[in-house]
Amino acid sequence: TTVNTLFFTDIQVKELDKRASGQAFEVILSPSAPDPKGEFPLSTPKKKEVSLDEIQKKLDAAEERRKNHEAEVLKHLAEKREHEKEVLQKAMEENNNFSKMAEEKLNLKMEANKENRTKQMAAMNEKFKEKDKKLEEVRKNKETKEGGENEEN
Ligand SMILES: *[C@@H]1O[C@H](CO)[C@@H](O)[C@H](O)[C@H]1NC(C)=O
Ligand SMILES: *[C@@H]1O[C@H](CO)[C@@H](O)[C@H](O)[C@H]1NC(C)=O
Repeated sequence: TTVNTLFFTDIQVKELDKRASGQAFEVILSPSAPDPKGEFPLSTPKKKEVSLDEIQKKLDAAEERRKNHEAEVLKHLAEKREHEKEVLQKAMEENNNFSKMAEEKLNLKMEANKENRTKQMAAMNEKFKEKDKKLEEVRKNKETKEGGENEEN
C-alpha cells in the first residue's frame, strides 16, 4: 500500500494505509522550515502542483468514504449481533424444550412406577387375603374335625 506524502510550505498531508478504514489522511501543520532531517527532499518540487482546494476535496472525499465505511461496519455488526441473538434464543428454546420433555418423561415414568406399585400392593394384598382365607378355612376345618373327635370321645 502506498503512502503519498505531499509537502507544502506549512502543510503536510499524508495518505495513510487504505486497508484500515477505507481512506485516511493525516494533516500535519509543520513549521515553514523544512524538515531538518530532509526525509523527502524529492517531494519538494511537487509543492505547487496541488492546490489547497484539491486537498480539501480529497479530504472531504476521504471523510465521506470513512463515514460510509463506518456505517457499513456498524450495520454489519448489528446484523451479526441480531444473528447471534437469534442463535442464542433458539438454543435457549431448544434447551427449554429438552428440559420440558425430560421433565414430562420423568413424570410419566414416576406415574407409571406409582401405578405399578399400587397394582403390586393391591396384588399382594389380594394374595395375603387369600392366604388368610385359606388359613381361616384350615383352622375352621381343624376345629370342626377336632370338635367332631371331641364329640366322639
Ligand atoms: C420447542 O417446542 C415448541 C412446541 O412444543 C415447538 O413449536 C418449537 O419448534 C420447539 N423449538 C425447538 C427449537 O425445538
Ligand atoms: C410395570 O409393571 C409391568 C408388569 O407388572 C412391567 O412390564 C413394566 O415394565 C412396569 N413398568 C414400570 C415403569 O416399572
